[in-house]
Amino acid sequence: MAKKKFSVLILAAGKATRFKSEQSKVLHRLAGLPLGEYVLRSALAAGPEQTLMVIGHAAEEVRKTFERPGVTFIEQKQPLGTGHAVLAARAEIERCPSPVVVVLAGDVPLISPETLLRLVEAHEKARPAATVLTTRVENPQGYGRIVRAQGNRIRTIVEEKVATPAQKKIQEINSAIICFSRAHLLKHLSELSDANAQKEYLLTDLVAIFNRHRQKVLAFPVADHREVLGVNDRAELAEIEKMLRLRKAEALIREGVTVVDPAATYIDEGVEVGSDTVIEPGVSLLGKTRVGRACLLRPHSTIADSVLGDRVTVRPCSVITGCEIASDAIIGPFAHLRDGAVIEQEARIGNFVEVKKSHVGRGTKASHLTYLGDATLGADVNIGAGTVTCNYDGEKKNATVIEDGCFIGSGTMLVAPVKVGRDSIVAAGSTITEDIPPESLALGRARQVNKDGWVRTRREGKDSTAISVREAGSVTILDVSGRLTMGNPSEELRRKINESRDAGRKWVLVNLANVVYVDSAGMGELVGAMKMLRNSGGELKLSGMGDRLLTLFAAAKLKHVFEIHSHEAAALASFSKRRST
Ligand code: UD1
Ligand code: MG
Repeated sequence: MAKKKFSVLILAAGKATRFKSEQSKVLHRLAGLPLGEYVLRSALAAGPEQTLMVIGHAAEEVRKTFERPGVTFIEQKQPLGTGHAVLAARAEIERCPSPVVVVLAGDVPLISPETLLRLVEAHEKARPAATVLTTRVENPQGYGRIVRAQGNRIRTIVEEKVATPAQKKIQEINSAIICFSRAHLLKHLSELSDANAQKEYLLTDLVAIFNRHRQKVLAFPVADHREVLGVNDRAELAEIEKMLRLRKAEALIREGVTVVDPAATYIDEGVEVGSDTVIEPGVSLLGKTRVGRACLLRPHSTIADSVLGDRVTVRPCSVITGCEIASDAIIGPFAHLRDGAVIEQEARIGNFVEVKKSHVGRGTKASHLTYLGDATLGADVNIGAGTVTCNYDGEKKNATVIEDGCFIGSGTMLVAPVKVGRDSIVAAGSTITEDIPPESLALGRARQVNKDGWVRTRREGKDSTAISVREAGSVTILDVSGRLTMGNPSEELRRKINESRDAGRKWVLVNLANVVYVDSAGMGELVGAMKMLRNSGGELKLSGMGDRLLTLFAAAKLKHVFEIHSHEAAALASFSKRRST
């Protein structure tokens, strides 16, 4: 194909109204790239003399995203329609050297450079005022309909809003990619107005305007309607995303990659994968990732902006971002590698291991539950489970160096900055704060103390019951502690009360302040003792009961059977009162 002389004008100033988004539509991500990037790349690949882009909504962000040599930006101050966007570019179009200007909507991502060139070629051959890239779709809803005149000529384009029921049935639609003769475009552009149902300057109105001036507008239909699908809402974005992903997976399959389930695999446009690699379902390969030959990528791993050598295995559910992994390494399951981690050949990074900004030497293994941050590990190092490089001191990150052949025992804390010399061994559970010379054993942990029988003693202390006897004048006080329950405790209580009675001391105060529990046998014992003392002309009273015991006694309906005092002094005083009466 001879080199064509044309320029392109991409319209990207609109607000993403139907997206219901604050962000510009052309910045929304489609298979890893901004939507507008697809149109811009295709346009540039077609080789235009000049590339102009009209921006408006979120202009600065859009400019920053698409800025590159050879692209000129024009600002449309208000989004008053596609025709208004072209009007905004008028001065640039006037300066433009090309006889032909192709206007492209920024939301038609699947357009190919070849189709653009064929459109320009057809336009140059027939020399009309404009050539409209059209296609036929099953459901034309939302698109501008092509109203044909005789032959290949178009009389007008009617937008959805103003189309009659008959026009709505037309299946040939405007792709929003229109090739203009620059002279005709400039001559009639100012005839556009917003006096229509949409109250917008519609670029498509130029078709009717040209027809009024008896100038030809031709259709250039493409067979594959997918190439000109517009993205106007998030449902369409998802649909096209799916198509792009399938297209990418199919291209890789043709190059000798096994993609087990293309519909459940997410591979960005720019990703490269070597032959004989197997990609299992749920894998995402994103950004600038390059995967070597014969790798095995198990399900549900995400690999972004990373380079993998040959025969690398990534086990399920691993996340790898911005890393380099050399051939024959094994990663995962559930590994997290990030921020420039470099893994050398045959190294092994296992489950629940995070590696950040670290270099892991050839054949080194960190198989379980480990954090390696800002660390440099030599070759053939073995990192025990639960090892942590303590790289952050609250202010800055510090480096850990582990030289070749070291063995780091499980549960080691390496407090950085710290260096472990070649072939050294660190004892499991160590906290290492000082450098270790080569070929040394480092033990950094407190000496163990075993307290023989400690648990047994504590248990017995809790469960035992003690009853001690005091005398206050004529009153015998029994201090009970622990649990007053069936068996020994109750029997001991009875014995002590009997001893007091036998000694002629019939006034007994039972102090329950340190009792944690009384069962029914204990309560029965107290009732029995009270009756027995009364029969012998004596008295039994209770004191010091906490809320818990009071509740227990109330539940047993015994609260009013006993004379209960909160304080010992009051209880003692009550005995002497009785005595005086
Ligand atoms: C447009 C066409 C319609 C066609 C469809 C194909 C018009 C009037 N309608 O409708 O015939 O079938 O594309 O996809 O052209 N833009 C600006 N400034 C504005 C308004 C829009 O730069 O003031 C840009 C948008 O950012 C977008 C492009 O123009 O990239 C198209 O605008 P959009 O609102 O998507 O037009 P459609 O309704 O899809
Ligand atoms: Mg659109």
